[in-house]
Amino acid sequence: MSYDTLFRSVHLATFADATPYGELRDAALLVRDGQIAWLGREAELPADLIDDETLELDCEGRWLTPGLIDCHTHLVFGGDRAAEWEQRLEGVSYEAIARAGGGIRSTVRATRQSSEDELVDAALPRLDCLLAEGVTTLEVKSGYGLDFEHERKMLRAARRLAEERELTVHTTFLGAHALPEEFTGRADDYIDACIDWMGRLAHEQLVDAVDAFCEHIAFSPAQVERLFEAAAALKLPVKLHAEQLSDQGGAGLVARRHGLSADHLEWLSEQDIAAMAQSGTTAVLLPIAYYCLRDTRPPPIEALRRAGVPLAVATDCNPGTAPASSLLLALNMACTLFRLTPAEALAGVTRHAAGALGLKDRGRLAVGLRADLALWSIERPAQLCYWLGGAPMAGRWCGGEAV
Ligand code: NIG
Ligand code: FE
Repeated sequence: MSYDTLFRSVHLATFADATPYGELRDAALLVRDGQIAWLGREAELPADLIDDETLELDCEGRWLTPGLIDCHTHLVFGGDRAAEWEQRLEGVSYEAIARAGGGIRSTVRATRQSSEDELVDAALPRLDCLLAEGVTTLEVKSGYGLDFEHERKMLRAARRLAEERELTVHTTFLGAHALPEEFTGRADDYIDACIDWMGRLAHEQLVDAVDAFCEHIAFSPAQVERLFEAAAALKLPVKLHAEQLSDQGGAGLVARRHGLSADHLEWLSEQDIAAMAQSGTTAVLLPIAYYCLRDTRPPPIEALRRAGVPLAVATDCNPGTAPASSLLLALNMACTLFRLTPAEALAGVTRHAAGALGLKDRGRLAVGLRADLALWSIERPAQLCYWLGGAPMAGRWCGGEAV
């Protein structure tokens, strides 16, 4: 049995109401059985809630937030792409490298050559950086295996991260990430293969959601539609890499299917913003990829905001477009490059990141939710977005357990 934990002398950023940060100062928060059992002003703490066995934690005026959620990553992969990065610095485009058989395909070669253990070992240092920044829930996509055996190996490696460390891992099947060499000229056949693998991997409990890359260098809306139809038959939620390099109408497509999220969105149209607003599909903003591709066209933030589309922020951690394992850096870039307010950016790695994964039990500080928490040595929440480098984290709790 575990003891109750009482956080006292703490300021809360709850993200539970419409005020910026959902701020509650001079507060206390009680954790019981892995859940938040009470929160409020410390002066109003009911005396009968605690007893001699309650573990009391004097937070000395620090800030407590929900544990951070990185809702879009490709954290598991083999090799690296530093050489391609050098080419890109000399002016070769991401698309040109992809068309010449590099890009995602070069990571596919390295990932296929790696064992499951090697993938786990390579991912752990990246994961540890995220955990040191208060992450308690992480999405990990497949998509560098591109055949049954290697997609399965990636998803198994992703699941194992949650055995090696304390966190929740949410897995996403991204078989339709790129066309593997052996299917050249046969993209429709490849989608058929993905549909078959998806069913088998879901049967092994390796798939929490399904994603695809809808782009002229990847898969067409019609192909994605077919994949999503099959996902619906398996009752798997969908999300989509949409409008990163061009407007394919991908965000509208995923919204019409009541998908969880459309991600990237630099080329998002007015029409698809309306579709997302109507279905409540989250917009996942990936400013590190935008920065690394030296993109100049930001997603239409003001229009998304006006339409009331929930905005999430994630690292997109991957060896090609976002070689980074810092969610706090993504927060800073969401503010500096996309003009999110710090309160919007932080809601994007808590409340709305949970929405992007379809998780209703976390992402806010509220009674009855999972006690996934991060404690910060800061004076005000905006500091989490403000400083580049280093993480002022003072503690992390997963399901109420200090980790
Ligand atoms: O989110 N856009 C497609 N997928 C990744 C990039 C993957 C890669 O280049 O390896 C992204 O940017
Ligand atoms: Fe991505």
